[in-house]
Amino acid sequence: MRTIDAVDTVSFDGTEVTMLDQTRLPGERVRLTIQDTAQMHEAIRTLRVRGAPAIGVAAAFGLWLGVRALPDDTPRAEAETQLRREQAYLAGARPTAVNLTWALERCAAEALQTPGSTADLKRAALEAAIRLRSDEEATTRRIGEHGAALLAGLQGVLTHCNAGSAATVGLGTALAPIYVAAERGHVLHVFADETRPLLQGARITAWELQEAGVPVTVITDSMAAVVMRQGKVGAVIVGCDRVAANGDVANKIGTYGVALLARAHGLPFYVAGPTSTIDLATPDGDHIEIEQRAAQEVTHHGGVAMAPAGVDVFNPAFDVTPAELVTALITERGVIYPPYTQGLRDVKA
Ligand code: MRU
Repeated sequence: MRTIDAVDTVSFDGTEVTMLDQTRLPGERVRLTIQDTAQMHEAIRTLRVRGAPAIGVAAAFGLWLGVRALPDDTPRAEAETQLRREQAYLAGARPTAVNLTWALERCAAEALQTPGSTADLKRAALEAAIRLRSDEEATTRRIGEHGAALLAGLQGVLTHCNAGSAATVGLGTALAPIYVAAERGHVLHVFADETRPLLQGARITAWELQEAGVPVTVITDSMAAVVMRQGKVGAVIVGCDRVAANGDVANKIGTYGVALLARAHGLPFYVAGPTSTIDLATPDGDHIEIEQRAAQEVTHHGGVAMAPAGVDVFNPAFDVTPAELVTALITERGVIYPPYTQGLRDVKA
């Protein structure tokens, strides 16, 4: 059986935190060494590291970087205040993916619960980030195993954005079932929406699938309907940045349109993500904060203007797909079917 190698998005090499700069893909593979929270904040905000689970893990290491330089004899109370300050700062890097605040709170709580000196707090913060990374890696494989069963018998699937290995610290969320299926000898053909405006589908999904030897065809976002109409795909599978308590799903801008197309063509629309992406404190999609990004991402391409200077731009980074369009949610704890309110509560219990 072949094994798919995960992209090394965020790692700790025993001394330093390093990350793949995803803004340089697919042309260049540049590895960054992140020295402090300001650099980590910048890397998350500018999408050098991106994808809900990956930014959670990156921020967890950022939290440790925020206390790393404190002298060991710093009063513990002072170190705790600094940890909480760095946590709030990192949590503000991007608003939509709940994994960011979830991962930061999990690691801050683990560090603060560890008794002892400032040196103990620092060590605990690092251990918490390493443990999170390893748990998140295992989670992606379990998502892959649950999802692979749903894709059995299919020849082609369509995905939007990048919810692959590059968006996590393992096999991905939406792409994990495709990788697990490939490992077992069932090779699916993936149609990857290019995903305007930042092209995560064309630049990153296509790159990582190619690297893994999984056949992939890049299409512009406007071609998804034709691909479905021509019967090239038997399902759609995407990732998620936040799942509200009622099953509404925030994911990359354009996902909602793909879900509507899937419904119109009678195709299942699957959403894959770890249970940490489920936010029971958010009642529905209307309560999810949607990140608004710079106009330049829409008006410019490779530094060249594609629209007249000064034109008004609408650039939400995410949209919300209503729960009624979601066929099933694939998590590491199993597949959840509608009605979602109870299923989501059960899986989080
Ligand atoms: O803006 P990005 O590139 O961070 O957006 C990523 C997505 O929308 C992914 O689909 C989502 O985070 C799920 S990743 C496993």
